[in-house]
Amino acid sequence: MAIPEIPKYKPYFFEVKKGKSYLWCSCGRSKKQPLCDGSHRDTEFMPVRYVAKSDEDVLFCGCKHTGSAPFCDGAHNNLLDEYPSDDPNSPENIAINNIVREVGKPTTLDGGCFVVNPSTMVAGEAGNFRHVEFLSQGTGAKYQSQNYAVVKDGSSPVISYGGSYVVGFILEGDGELHISGRKFNVQRRTGFVVHPNETFQFLQKGDVPLEMYLNVCPIESRPDFSSDMRDNFDSEFPQRIAVIDRENAESMADRFFQVLIDKRMGCRAATQFIGDIPESKAEPHRHLYEESIIIIQGRGTMWTDTVKTDVGAGDVIFLPQKQLHSLQSTDPDGMLVLGVIYPGDNPSINY
Ligand code: FES
Repeated sequence: MAIPEIPKYKPYFFEVKKGKSYLWCSCGRSKKQPLCDGSHRDTEFMPVRYVAKSDEDVLFCGCKHTGSAPFCDGAHNNLLDEYPSDDPNSPENIAINNIVREVGKPTTLDGGCFVVNPSTMVAGEAGNFRHVEFLSQGTGAKYQSQNYAVVKDGSSPVISYGGSYVVGFILEGDGELHISGRKFNVQRRTGFVVHPNETFQFLQKGDVPLEMYLNVCPIESRPDFSSDMRDNFDSEFPQRIAVIDRENAESMADRFFQVLIDKRMGCRAATQFIGDIPESKAEPHRHLYEESIIIIQGRGTMWTDTVKTDVGAGDVIFLPQKQLHSLQSTDPDGMLVLGVIYPGDNPSINY
């Protein structure tokens, strides 16, 4: 089988127009990348036609090894031995201003990106469910709100987030999660998903409080604690718990990630994944998706166009769509992060 040339180890960002036809170059020889200029003549490659269904932003494959032509599927990452990195001590990076964090307050970077440690913020209380909503439309999100919550000494109230999915992660503690009448055991570093219109409740066990993050998507500002436990569990998707399993991690050059929650659990609104970042600074890049990144372990620096700030375990980074950024791990043991993205289900795609 012929091997295409590789004009770029990243996708091409393109604003396509509804009804317009695009001929994507599959051979890699075109001088008008990512589109065909006829250079495939005398090869076995043919261009791929794409007719845009709406005005939208797309990422056309640049490495020509995608399995989802004409779009990027992240295949370029595995054509490289190392994830593209950046020198934090280059003259341009040395000139970037460091913002000193303030306890209990978000630190704002460029383009609506911010870093916050929600465990230091003032919490609301509903019985023994202490919760802080730190991401919402009011703080610049379009697709997902996010809460930090703690449950201790027994059962939480019954909770509902209306017609939204709740994509959660237990940071610390052990207990049970009841979803519309079904019982699941949860423990430290467990992901879970609650489907729209289901109700849920936590039972904390042992000495350590249940500490968690709840992403609510589509965006919903407030939990409702008034409901009784419903009997409407979506039994088409009985699997709701995801655990970290290094055997099932996918490689991304010299990095690894594992998708915990996605459409395989019936979640059509967001994708939750866990990833390891070795001591390094990623090359600055952008995503088409909105993302929240929770630092589970390790420390580092979050960089945007003109500023940077220190980050560490317990911090959450909010990244609006298309914002240029770079997350640096300064920890010799690396950094463990949890990401929740929407729209899209592939955290290995950036441009
Ligand atoms: S020039 Fe590459 S497919 Fe036509």
